[in-house]
This record gives sequence, C-alpha cells and structure tokens, in this order.
Amino acid sequence: MGLLNNNAHVFHASPVGMLVESSVAAKLAELAGFPAQTAGLTFPGGSYANMHALMTARNRRFPEIKHKGLYALSGVRPVVFTSRHSHYSIDKAAMAAGIGLDGVIHVPTDSTGSMRVAELRRMMQHAIDSGQTPFFVNATMGTTVLGACDPLEDIAAVCKEYSVWLHVDGSWGGPLALFAESPDMAPTFVMPHGRVDSMSVNPHKLLGVPLQCSFLLVREGLDVMRQALGLNASYLFHSEGSDGEESQPGEGNLDVGDATLGCGRRPDALKFWLMWRYYGTRYFINRVSHARPQMVDGFWLLNHPVPASAFGLFRDNSLRKSVTIHGVK
Ligand SMILES: Cc1ncc(COP(=O)(O)O)c(C=O)c1O
Repeated sequence: MGLLNNNAHVFHASPVGMLVESSVAAKLAELAGFPAQTAGLTFPGGSYANMHALMTARNRRFPEIKHKGLYALSGVRPVVFTSRHSHYSIDKAAMAAGIGLDGVIHVPTDSTGSMRVAELRRMMQHAIDSGQTPFFVNATMGTTVLGACDPLEDIAAVCKEYSVWLHVDGSWGGPLALFAESPDMAPTFVMPHGRVDSMSVNPHKLLGVPLQCSFLLVREGLDVMRQALGLNASYLFHSEGSDGEESQPGEGNLDVGDATLGCGRRPDALKFWLMWRYYGTRYFINRVSHARPQMVDGFWLLNHPVPASAFGLFRDNSLRKSVTIHGVK
C-alpha cells in the first residue's frame, strides 16, 4: 500500500514507481510500434494525456510561446483538427492551450463515426489558404459514443504531407490495437505505418485497471516534453537516472515530473504493472477479445457494429429478459 502513496515526480522519491512506470511505458510503446526512445508517462486521465500531447506539439511547433506566450505569434493563427465524434477533451485542451474553441476544426465523419479523410485534407488546405497554421491532428481510435476508429493510415499520410503532429487518442480503443488476438479481430484498429507522434491509452477503461491509469506515449522522447513544458526547478529535479546518478539529455532521466504541467504525481503505472505481472498479457488479450459485440437475434441494429461497440433496440419487449448482448460499452 505504501508504494501506491509514493510521489512519482522524481526518482529519489519513488525509485520503484519510476522504474515500473518506465518499463510499462516501454512495453506499451513496443506494442504500439513506437521506437525505443519513446517517452511514456501516466496522467490523471485521458483528457490530461490529450492536453499534454497538444501542449507539447504546440510548443514544439512554436517554441517562442513558452516564454512570450501567444503574443509571440503576431498574426499566426494555429489550428487543430479532430473529428466531430472525437472526445471533448480535445476542445478543452485547445481552450487551455490558448488555441481557443474557434481554433478547433471539426472534420465530418461517415455513418460509422469515422473521420472523412478527404474532408480533412480539404479543410486543412482551406485553413492554410485562409492564413491559418495547422499544427496538430487528433485521430480517435475508439470514439466515445460509437466506438469508431478513424482511418489512421490515411490520416498519417495527410499529416506527413502537411508536416503536422499526429496524435492518436486511443484512450478507450487503443487496447484493441495493442492487445489484438489477431489483426483481423479489429481490422480498423491498427497502428499506421506512417508516423504517429503521440498516443493516449487508458488502461483504466477497456483493460480494467483501477482508476486512474492513463498513459501518454510521445515518440520523440522525454526531452521534447521537457523542452516544451519543463522549468527544471532546481530544488526538486536533479536529472536522476535509474542508477541514481545525474544523467545527460536522452539518457534516461527519471525525474519525469518536469515533463508535465504538474508537480506531484500518483504512481498509477504500478496498478497496471501488478495486473500485468499477475495475469499476464493473455489476460488483456482475452479481455479485449471478449469486448467484441455479439449481436443476437432480437435487436434492431442502430449502427454498424465496430469491434467493441454496438447499439441496438430490442425488437420485442418480451425478449428483454432472455436476450443478452456482450461487450457493449
Ligand atoms: C475517446 C476518449 N478520449 C478521452 C477520454 C477522456 O478520458 P478520461 O475520462 O480518462 O479523462 C474519453 C473518455 O471517455 C474517451 O472516450
């Protein structure tokens, strides 16, 4: 129990917590196909993970904001893109980051709730032609209501073409890609070959880890988050690595709190690590497989079922007691 109450901001306060967090993050990054230098930090919820992704992307693209604020942009109008079915945390993040709600461009979706990429490209070009500067696209892997996955491969291609940060909000659907029994289990839930810059995954949703446990993976590593958000308060942060010695940039500095907008942090990775150690990867694969909806006779389907979500109406009230539907959110 003591371990659960450690402060996971610096290595010397919580050496076990930091090592557990970095090893769980490394495993998630590997499953997501991210490179070895990827940073993986827990945040108090997917909304905060999404916000840190957006803040990091903003300060990476416009480094002058860190000291001078948005005034430094003098006339440049940064905008972000996300689908109409994405989670509202993207809009809140834009609000918090000074982009403003009008700076969030909502891309239309198809009948399954998945982003229309041709519209994304058209709207991005239109934004540029109108003097705006796109810097961030959020693609959702498992939309909150319909459970749809945006077409990541095609979105990654657009982001590459326009040099825009691609964030994947896999807060609830991410595990369908990371713990898939086989690629055809959830064919739309696959990580794209093109570059993904960051990804949120909430093990506290589909994987059943006790609240809260949310990871943000950032491809370029912790140093880019520190550059974007860190202040290096010298009373606390000493760049300690896993051997307790001071590390150089890129060398596994485990004083991770400075890469966030907060200070103290809960060691949320521990709960995930304990479950993973005890039950093994197979447990998570089974959980995710069982989340597939098994539609049975007796429903009017209201949407085309996607791997972990379906909506239906009972055709006949007398069936209510005898018919079950599994895996619906
Ligand atoms: C797609 C998606 N992203 C982000 C979130 C926010 O996650 P949290 O509630 O952990 O902040 C949710 C919550 O339902 C979600 O469905």
